[in-house]
Amino acid sequence: MKLTMVGAGRVGSTTLFQLVLEGGIQEFVIVDVRKEVAEGEALDLRHGLAQSYRTRIVAGDYDATADSDIVVITAGIPRKPGDTRLDLLRTNVELMREILDNVVRYSPNALLFVVSNPVDVLTYQALRQSGFPEQRVFGLGTVLDTTRFRSLLAERLEVSPDSVIAYMLGEHGDSMVPLLSSASVAGVPLDQFPGYSPQMVQEVVEATRYGGAEVIKRKGGTFYSVAPSICAVLRAVRWDLKQVLPVTSLVDGPLGLSNMCLSLPCVVGKHGRERVLVPPMNDQEREALRHSHRVLREAADSVGLP
Ligand code: LAC
Repeated sequence: MKLTMVGAGRVGSTTLFQLVLEGGIQEFVIVDVRKEVAEGEALDLRHGLAQSYRTRIVAGDYDATADSDIVVITAGIPRKPGDTRLDLLRTNVELMREILDNVVRYSPNALLFVVSNPVDVLTYQALRQSGFPEQRVFGLGTVLDTTRFRSLLAERLEVSPDSVIAYMLGEHGDSMVPLLSSASVAGVPLDQFPGYSPQMVQEVVEATRYGGAEVIKRKGGTFYSVAPSICAVLRAVRWDLKQVLPVTSLVDGPLGLSNMCLSLPCVVGKHGRERVLVPPMNDQEREALRHSHRVLREAADSVGLP
């Protein structure tokens, strides 16, 4: 597999570090406007290969990315304390326009995996601007929020996070939707599991919703929860796992929603976002998703996306 990472900031470099240690990707190309930083990241990663796996790692311009199997886009201005992800919209839409022109030119058959924020709107922009089939264009979406949600619930319930099945869906942002009606722990409905209380769950929901902002306020950026979430999606692609992950992708029809990318549980495999699943949900959750869709559609309208 040839993977291009556009953006060698803290998310991009931390993700590359984990991917190299996991193995299974034969070639990495790192692209960043700060060419020396990209070169430094490539060198630093190559120096450690004796302790992981043989792989080719280079920094370069877009011509070096030709025929990538997957392009991961993390480039863009990051949030500052107090910013919402939607505050980044205008600047990152313009940056994305130029990135996509180059990526599409050199890798017309690639999967496009967007991480940059606001990730739902930028994934939608990538879909419309590239003209690629919808299954080949997806974004991290609420995979990260679902990771946080499960991690924090597991802490409170004193169980392993991989036993917690609970989704955050919709916008990767303040309108994200906790899918509590179907949440469970090792097959036990969440509201019947020892240690459950409505207050505990509400505290965890809010800690998840504003978790990114809380980290940014203290250390200036998030990456140690972001990179593993990105790598989970890439593993599902790399090994054709058909894993159900709430990536953000085109939702056109389900729940009466259309013309926008947002997160629903999706089957992810070698072809990308292969299927969108509509889980059972109650009226409150369904309405909250519709609200999330409205927030994102209004944001897309504000920057002239179709
Ligand atoms: C966060 C950023 C990646 O939630 O949006 O940490």
